[in-house]
Amino acid sequence: MPRLFLGGNHKCTGTIGSLKTLLAQFAEKSIPEDIDFVVAPSMMHLPLAVEEAKAPIQISAQNCYFKKGAFTGETNIEQIKDIGLEWVILGHSERRHVFGESHELIATKTKTAIEAGLKVIYCVGETLEEKEAGKTEEVCAGQLEAIGKVLTEEQWKSVVIAVEPVYAIGTGVAATPESAQSTNAFCRKWVSEHVSAAIAKDISIAYGGSVKPSNAEELSRQPDIDGFLVGGASTSPAFLEIMEILV
Ligand code: G3P
Repeated sequence: MPRLFLGGNHKCTGTIGSLKTLLAQFAEKSIPEDIDFVVAPSMMHLPLAVEEAKAPIQISAQNCYFKKGAFTGETNIEQIKDIGLEWVILGHSERRHVFGESHELIATKTKTAIEAGLKVIYCVGETLEEKEAGKTEEVCAGQLEAIGKVLTEEQWKSVVIAVEPVYAIGTGVAATPESAQSTNAFCRKWVSEHVSAAIAKDISIAYGGSVKPSNAEELSRQPDIDGFLVGGASTSPAFLEIMEILV
């Protein structure tokens, strides 16, 4: 059975003060042990988050590079592990579309991160144009296939899939529960057919894109939505409200 997952992706926002306040608010709440409650602040704030976060809150990087050396501005996997992190987000649509990361690069980063012992929140999702052209499944299949080519069945146990339709990210308008369920179910079917039925049964498949307390309940009732990857609403106590709806 998939484990519940709730990730908060702070993207390129936040300050020392805002992160401290947020983590203090989270610390006052009892977070169930049976959910992966993962906070991904900016790279700059990761050491602070590791210091301030109380178990069972887990901290994730938002990205990483697969090599160390002369790669100005990058952060490598060894450094992420060095500060004690277990999670990294890869394949986010902003990395794919704003920074032009290819399937191959994201797949290499995913493979290398998992080999190093990290768990990967692997994002997939179609643009509005692709959705309107009826290409949602084709696009998600291509993104899954990129890592499918390089991961062993065992390595898939370190993957959480986050389905984030690009048109729903940061717009305030989430995908409809039916549409989100349909894409998440497609991803589970893809894993069943291309990896194994056992992995498909247990893999957590989250939904992301304008999740907030007002829409979380209906989305969380969908059988193939095992949690959320939240952007905007994860930087306020609304994140705790979403958790309460989910558990
Ligand atoms: O990774 C989370 C994300 O892209 C969704 O962002 O602000 O629409 O919840 P948001």
